[in-house]
Amino acid sequence: TEPLRIALAGLGTVGAGVVALLDANAELITRRAGRTIQVVAVSARDRFKDRGVDLSRFAWEDDTRLLAEREDVDVVVELVGGSDGPALALARAAFGRGKGLVTANKAMLAHHGLELAAAAEQAGAALKFEAAVAGGVPVIKGLREGAAANELRQVYGILNGTCNFILSKMETESRGFDDVLHEAQAAGFAEADPSFDIDGVDAGHKLAILASLAFGTAPTFAAVEMTGIRHLLAADIAEAAALGYRVRLLGLAESGVSGLFQRVHPYLVPLSHPLAHVTGPTNAVVAEGDFVGRLLFQGAGAGAGPTASAVVADLIDIARGVTGPPLAMPSDMLARADRADAGDR
Ligand code: HSE
Repeated sequence: TEPLRIALAGLGTVGAGVVALLDANAELITRRAGRTIQVVAVSARDRFKDRGVDLSRFAWEDDTRLLAEREDVDVVVELVGGSDGPALALARAAFGRGKGLVTANKAMLAHHGLELAAAAEQAGAALKFEAAVAGGVPVIKGLREGAAANELRQVYGILNGTCNFILSKMETESRGFDDVLHEAQAAGFAEADPSFDIDGVDAGHKLAILASLAFGTAPTFAAVEMTGIRHLLAADIAEAAALGYRVRLLGLAESGVSGLFQRVHPYLVPLSHPLAHVTGPTNAVVAEGDFVGRLLFQGAGAGAGPTASAVVADLIDIARGVTGPPLAMPSDMLARADRADAGDR
């Protein structure tokens, strides 16, 4: 069988991680995908930076968008980031040429998810984004599978590893916010602009995507209320601990009579709740379904190995022809819109 030929846009932590993973586990990936997954072309800002992986085997494009124009590429992997700009141009170009897209770009999906899902559907191409929410934790696949037959009441969780790392360290080591933030940046899981982490924006992006899947609506980032952890003091965390709580930055989405509620905020989590025991740069997502009960997905929400694992899992799906619905189920979205209309009358 023919290889699945991919182009890689963006060679940061995750992009280099994808190349390293495809190399290291090549044999088992080929076996499970039923064919080889072959990187054909790459693009990034700096061609000559040492990323610890051999790029000389791949064609290079200075203009990222041109990856989508190549005849020898079946699927584009977008790891550039940013809600608009080159990432969005590349995604549109990929669907315009009927190519599939695998992306880790939560900001782009939170802002343009509906447009991209529609474009993918129209092109008959795959749109896969397991890596966009909670890194290596298979929460997109998990929600779709685990709650396929359920009405979900709520989805919530720890969606930003940087904040959870900071909050954990502030509690256990009684350290100040700025001091720990620098450590998170040095460890490499903070966003390029760390205000996206600490002001709850990154968690807001991921929440908008989860809410879309959980409730069958289009992602509506504009409707997410966000408060971050910038102003928390070690003393606040100590007070909470004295009362039997841990402070966790949670994203929470709920579908109620007055519509969809989406909020990112520091919450007091009682020690009896599993999320109180999630420490360090870990992510954890809870979904409450009407028949399945409580589902808990937990694991590494950032970093090269975990995030690359999610990207390559999506590529294996595409190689096997398992593409799934572009975002939420379009038919579900339509049924919800009907019900909302009926409710208005
Ligand atoms: N900055 C993000 C985090 C990376 O800390 O969770 C993964 O999206």
